[in-house]
Amino acid sequence: MSGGIAAYKAVEVCRRLVDAGAHVSPVLTRAATRFVGELTFSALASEPARTSLWGNDEPIPHTRLGQGADLVVVAPATARLIGAYAAGISSDLLTATLLATRAPVLLAPAMHTEMWEHPAVVDNIATLRRRGVHLVGPDAGRLAGGDLGYGRLAAPEAIVDAATALLAPSRNDTRGLQALVTAGGTREPIDAVRYIGNRSSGKQGHAIASELASRGADVLLVTASELPGPPGVEVERVETAAEMHAAVTRAAAERDLVVMSAAVADFRPKVTVAGKLKKADGVPEVILEQTPDILAELGATRRPGQILVGFAAEALGPGAQPEERLREFAEGKLRAKRADLIVANDVSAPGVGFAHDTNAVLIVTADGYHVPVPLADKGAIAAAVVDAALAYGSRRSSPPGR
Ligand code: C5P
Repeated sequence: MSGGIAAYKAVEVCRRLVDAGAHVSPVLTRAATRFVGELTFSALASEPARTSLWGNDEPIPHTRLGQGADLVVVAPATARLIGAYAAGISSDLLTATLLATRAPVLLAPAMHTEMWEHPAVVDNIATLRRRGVHLVGPDAGRLAGGDLGYGRLAAPEAIVDAATALLAPSRNDTRGLQALVTAGGTREPIDAVRYIGNRSSGKQGHAIASELASRGADVLLVTASELPGPPGVEVERVETAAEMHAAVTRAAAERDLVVMSAAVADFRPKVTVAGKLKKADGVPEVILEQTPDILAELGATRRPGQILVGFAAEALGPGAQPEERLREFAEGKLRAKRADLIVANDVSAPGVGFAHDTNAVLIVTADGYHVPVPLADKGAIAAAVVDAALAYGSRRSSPPGR
């Protein structure tokens, strides 16, 4: 708890977490103790409340608390707490614990609308999100002093639901698997300000990285997207096809599963003009050249046993038998790239592909399976892709008849 008027609702959060079977170690900032009593939490939680780095019965409480936690929930999280955490300043027990933990962190912000919308808070929240910190709320509603607006602490049951979801036991069926996932659309510079890009958002690739990590895999995500890195995923940010090529080439040999969900540019300007092309100099001629085909290169050079998944975005448009055309297209790509699985989608269909939160795909495998996955959110599609890759891997390691 940090010090906001909403701290009284943390009593309810604490009680519900204890009821749900959690071991709750309460930590209050000094300001929080002005709103709620330390004793209340000591009585309700699983161990006495702590309020200070100093004067405890143990010399370094923050490391025990941080290292021992499966989840750290900060409710309410004030603007000050959010700022200190984003800046890595550990001036009290709560911020020190936040820096000493590798567990997922869930923040439930609560503050006045003006503070929540202040550029400093907006930036700090963006920074924390990028680092994989989870948020619940804030909601709109009545604030301290009777004002109405955005910034109200999420309801205790919503905070507990979010905590429970983060603690849900994972399937762990990718435990020990070394995975590499690419995501986003590359940008190929024309000059210092312009680039050739594409409409890929990176949502599907990030969802796959997140799915693999939540099921136990060790995941490196090479991304050209600005989306936050999913929790527990190592992230390498790149911009161009050349940078993605270098990052993937460095990492691929060590990986058991490579999922190339990035929309890598097929062509790039042959030269990047230093500075900015001037309109007054007339219409420039931009000569393009081919980029390295990363997936095809991996397909040609990979070690036996590695599973290689490629994506194929097709704009089928209107016409007969779209499913068959998509399958033929995907199977062609499977052979051309020597991949094990191709995840194909028709980006011209409603709700499918680039920038949407939903997708519909057809997964084809090198051993002749096709798995159509109807329109679903990108998390569900990610789960289907991971399932298909694992099933393919187990068929390959124990072929029928052996
Ligand atoms: O050939 P096409 O671009 O349609 O193939 C798509 C698949 O190939 C995707 O998995 C994409 O990540 C990968 N790709 C690549 N390098 C490129 C172009 C595409 O790895 N230069």
